[in-house]
Amino acid sequence: MLMKNYRQLAMVILAAGLLLVGGALALAQETSEAYEWDLPAGFPAPRVPEDNPMSTEKVELGRYLFYDVRLSGNERISCSSCHLQALAFSDGLALSPGATGELTHRNSMSLTNSAYSATLTWSNPNLVTIERQILVPMFGEFPIEMGITGNEEAVLERFRSEALYEPLFAAAFPDESDPVSFGNINKALASFVRTLISGNSIYDQYRWVDKNAMSESAKRGMAMFLGETLECHHCHTGFNFSLSTAHVNTTFEERAFFNTGLYNLNGTGAYPAPSQGVFEVTGQSNDMGKFRPPSLRNVELTAPYMHDGSIATLEDVIQFYADGGRNISDGPYAGDGRENPLKSGFVSGFDLSEQEREDLLNFLLSLTDVSFTTDPRFSDPFAAG
Ligand code: HEC
Ligand code: HEC
Repeated sequence: MLMKNYRQLAMVILAAGLLLVGGALALAQETSEAYEWDLPAGFPAPRVPEDNPMSTEKVELGRYLFYDVRLSGNERISCSSCHLQALAFSDGLALSPGATGELTHRNSMSLTNSAYSATLTWSNPNLVTIERQILVPMFGEFPIEMGITGNEEAVLERFRSEALYEPLFAAAFPDESDPVSFGNINKALASFVRTLISGNSIYDQYRWVDKNAMSESAKRGMAMFLGETLECHHCHTGFNFSLSTAHVNTTFEERAFFNTGLYNLNGTGAYPAPSQGVFEVTGQSNDMGKFRPPSLRNVELTAPYMHDGSIATLEDVIQFYADGGRNISDGPYAGDGRENPLKSGFVSGFDLSEQEREDLLNFLLSLTDVSFTTDPRFSDPFAAG
């Protein structure tokens, strides 16, 4: 209890930026224990929930759990089945099979910089911590992803009886006598996911290190991306190329969601169930089709695109924005998305020459960070090495 108050006090002092001589000794101890983020240039520190402070040991435990099929009810899949490092922690599928083969309702997201997502997942304004989000793949039944529900004891027993995990849990949760619990598994997974930070793309090289790192074509594409004809930057803005970004210095919380005119079922403005955007959560008709603008970092690796993986390539995404939405002429999803009454005014279409198209594409490709997809700290600890 005493220790806890002391910590809180130290945090308050730190936050106020005051280095009082009297507290200097205690503070020195606090800061030497503090987690080292090793952030890319231009990246503020991520937010971390007070009840799950970062530690190297928790991150390491989380890494093992992330790659371990024993965490799924039937030992068939792990988190990494749908979040592959080589694909910036997405999976290349439109929708993904869970442990029992049931498909997810939405496209598996890249976990690139999830630490900075103001809201988690494609369209849930109420999911604001990674910890809360991870409960969904762990225990969710609509659809089943990891399929832990109904197999809780069996899953925990696997980790209790596995010698590998005893020191990992003990180091991650040193004050607990029985640390193998779903609460701690969730905390460790969230800590690992929070470290999946990517900020060393060719664009970053250009921005911070070497003005020649980007090709002339990509530079022209960047100017278009940031310009007022294409309007991309309104929604894909800032160091993480998403308006939906939060970090320790955020004062105004931006929970951004937009309808980009992908659908307009029978001219009613509707998106096909079950993926109808924020509307699914709020039930408000003007939230139909509103989704979070995803970060465009590593977007080269995260095809297929959009919340349902319904656009195959980046060239097609560019065409989609040039058209100002998507017109589907026949089939069950017929309707002219360009005329969707809820479509954002920033998606209004534009004309591009072949060269301009290539320039914009080259800019998007410059956001790929190979050091992220090959970083051994994020790799599968069970892989033969
Ligand atoms: C069956 C495939 C599948 C599995 C298994 C899976 N995920 Fe996901 N993940 C998804 C999909 C699909 C989404 C998008 C969900 C949505 O929008 O409703 C997602 C979203 C996320 C997000 C949100 C990212 C962001 O920035 O908003 C996080 C974090 C995440 N998953 C972590 C995990 C962890 C940790 C595990 C293991 C416990 C896991 N996932 C297992 C498919 C999967
Ligand atoms: C009005 C806000 C807005 C504007 C303007 C906008 N986007 Fe988007 N972008 C979004 C949203 C929202 C999504 C997800 C939509 C969905 O899944 O239904 C998205 C998705 C994408 C994706 C797919 C990412 C993925 O991982 O699936 C790419 C690529 C993209 N946008 C690039 C661009 C480019 C290039 C421009 C400028 C031509 C642009 N965007 C303009 C909001 C916007």
